[in-house]
Amino acid sequence: MTSRISAEHEYTMGYSPEFLQLLDRRNAHTHAAHLVSQLRAGMRLLDFGCGPGTITVGLAAAVKPGEVHGVDMEESQIEMARAAASAGGHDNITFHVGNVYELPFEDNYFDAAHCHAVLMHVPDTQSALREVKRVLKPGGIIASREMIAGSSFVEPAGEHIPDAWATFIRLLAGNGGHPEMGKELKRALLEAGFADVNTGGSFDYFDTAEEISFLHAFINDWFFMPQVVAAATQYGLATQAEFDQWRLEIDQWEDAVGAVGGLAFGEAIATKP
Ligand SMILES: C[S@@+](CC[C@H](N)C(=O)[O-])C[C@H]1O[C@@H](n2cnc3c(N)ncnc32)[C@H](O)[C@@H]1O
Repeated sequence: MTSRISAEHEYTMGYSPEFLQLLDRRNAHTHAAHLVSQLRAGMRLLDFGCGPGTITVGLAAAVKPGEVHGVDMEESQIEMARAAASAGGHDNITFHVGNVYELPFEDNYFDAAHCHAVLMHVPDTQSALREVKRVLKPGGIIASREMIAGSSFVEPAGEHIPDAWATFIRLLAGNGGHPEMGKELKRALLEAGFADVNTGGSFDYFDTAEEISFLHAFINDWFFMPQVVAAATQYGLATQAEFDQWRLEIDQWEDAVGAVGGLAFGEAIATKP
C-alpha cells in the first residue's frame, strides 16, 4: 500500500506527549553508539530531525567545544531541545527550525552529520541525502539509525497482532515514509554518492517489567489514540473492530508470561568522498 494518505505529506508520529515519552528515553550512548565512538573534541556536527534534542545533547558533549547545530521542521520540538540544552549547560549547540531539504548552512561546513529515526519519515530520501552531503566537508561522516518496522515485534503475539503492525507500516508508507529504511540505508547512501558505508543493526528491546509496562502504555496511548484510529479507519486501512481486538491482545501481551518486545533498527555510517 503506497497510496498517499494526504496530498501534503504528514509526519506520521505527530508531536503528542504520548510519542514524546518514547523519545525521552533516548540518548546518544544508547541510540547513537555507532557514531559516538567516531566523534572527537572540536568536530562541527549537524543533527537533522533532532526532535526534542535528547540525543543531540550527548553528541554535543562528545564534540565539545565543537559547534553543534540541531535542525527540526517542528518549532515545538526546537523549543524543547533548546530547554534541554540550556538545562544541561550545553552552550555549544544552536537549534534551528528548518527542513532537511534546504539546510541553512554553507557548503562543506560540517565534520559529521547525524539523524535518528528521521529518514524513515522523509519522503524524498535522495534529495535529503544530497542536501546533507552538500553541507558536509569532503571526508565528513554521516550516521543514521532508522527503523525496520517489519522486523519489530511483541512476543507472545496474539493472533491479530501482525495485522496491527501491518497497519502501522501502511500508515507510515501512506504518509510518504519508508517503514523499512533501516535496511535500505546502505543502498540509499551509495546512491547519494557516499563511500565507505558500514552498516549494522540493533533493537530497542523491552524486557523488564518496567520496560514492558512502558511499551504497553506507549502502544495504548499512541497507536490507539483517536487521531491514529481515525486516520487508519478513514483511509480504509483498518476498522474500529480490528483496533478493539488489537487493544485486547496488547493487554493480554502485557500480562503474558515471558513477554518481550523489540523495535528493530538498522544503522549506517558513511563518508563524503
Ligand atoms: C521520530 S522523530 C526523531 C527525533 C530524534 N531524532 C530522536 O530520535 O529522538 C523525527 C523528527 O524528524 C523531524 N522531521 C521529519 N521530517 C523532517 C524534515 N523534512 N526536515 C526536518 N525535520 C524533519 C520531525 O519533526 C521529528 O521531530
